[in-house]
Amino acid sequence: MAKQQRLAWAITGSGHYLRESLAILNSLENVDVFLSRAAAEIIQQYGFQSLLNAKGHRIYQDKTASSVPVEMFYQGKYHALVIAPATSNTIAKMAYGFSDSLVTNLFAQAGKTRVPCIVFACDTAPELESEAPRDNVVKVYPRKIDLDNIAKLKTFEATTVVEDMLNLSESIKKSLQTVLQS
Ligand SMILES: Cc1cc2nc3c(=O)[nH]c(=O)nc-3n(C[C@H](O)[C@H](O)[C@H](O)COP(=O)(O)O)c2cc1C
Repeated sequence: MAKQQRLAWAITGSGHYLRESLAILNSLENVDVFLSRAAAEIIQQYGFQSLLNAKGHRIYQDKTASSVPVEMFYQGKYHALVIAPATSNTIAKMAYGFSDSLVTNLFAQAGKTRVPCIVFACDTAPELESEAPRDNVVKVYPRKIDLDNIAKLKTFEATTVVEDMLNLSESIKKSLQTVLQS
């Protein structure tokens, strides 16, 4: 079964660790990429379009009200879903069960079809440095609600929430090994 299955990778409108997430994405094969509407803009603003296109992954944009691409989860096309980087907006929606955009729908449908999900949440610490457009760095202070939403998401079934790039890449490796062994 799993041999033909692919990895789904969703990107949201976060500048924080976007560059690093794209680097991990580009080290992988057999991936389909899904962009939130904000992600499509942010990738342009940071000048990362060529990085996104570098590996020739199939890219799906958020263009439909019903999130038509999620149908592929019903077809069993994916063995896992990665959401990286995940904005505090998408984390909040997912933590409360909303599915009103492509990425939140992917998360909901992955959950409902029992496809495991790995989420890299941006706002992981009370204070962090974040990459802004044009190579600027800004200090960001995630609010209590942002941290609480991440804690809530960690209680979801089949959901691994990672807080740094090392854990992201190790969790993906582990997930790929599980697929190869199945
Ligand atoms: C330059 C820029 C950088 C941003 N970086 C972040 C970020 O690191 N984390 C975050 O939670 N939101 C960030 N945002 C805000 C999100 O893009 C915004 O909340 C958007 O509505 C998220 O939509 P999405 O969750 O559907 O992708 C950034 C916005 C801009 C313009």
